Amino acid sequence: MKKIVIASDHGAVALKSEIIAFLKTKQCELKDLGVDSDDPVDYPDIAVLTCTEFKRGGYDFGILLCGTGIGVSMTANKIKGIRCALIHDLFTAEMAKAHNDANFIAFGGRVKYNVPVTKMIEKFMETEFAGERHCRRVGKIMDAEK
Ligand code: RB5
Repeated sequence: MKKIVIASDHGAVALKSEIIAFLKTKQCELKDLGVDSDDPVDYPDIAVLTCTEFKRGGYDFGILLCGTGIGVSMTANKIKGIRCALIHDLFTAEMAKAHNDANFIAFGGRVKYNVPVTKMIEKFMETEFAGERHCRRVGKIMDAEK
């Protein structure tokens, strides 16, 4: 069973509900940090809150949502230990895990995707990190924090 932390700004409230409903069918354990209304909030606050919760430990990965996914992913990638991938199709969903070992994935509630976000999440979840040369490359991503 996967344990996942998820949060959204006001730009992806409906998408968050859709994702949560899907993940419940996959028996995932979810920590939902909001928001649940259209009242404006600042996406960096949401990203920092969610990454901080993730770093408390015990989570397999996190999902961040905003209008585009861009703002939350930019913020998350400023936080030590976080590798947040902005996903836009099944290929990037697979590569984010296989090559980049992402521990966060981001989507936009106002983006028109050609494939349902739930399918991209499913692809990410069923993919394994490929290891080998990618260990060295992911290690170099983390070295860039220093
Ligand atoms: C909020 O209006 C919007 O800027 C935010 O949801 C996100 O798209 C930022 O990257």
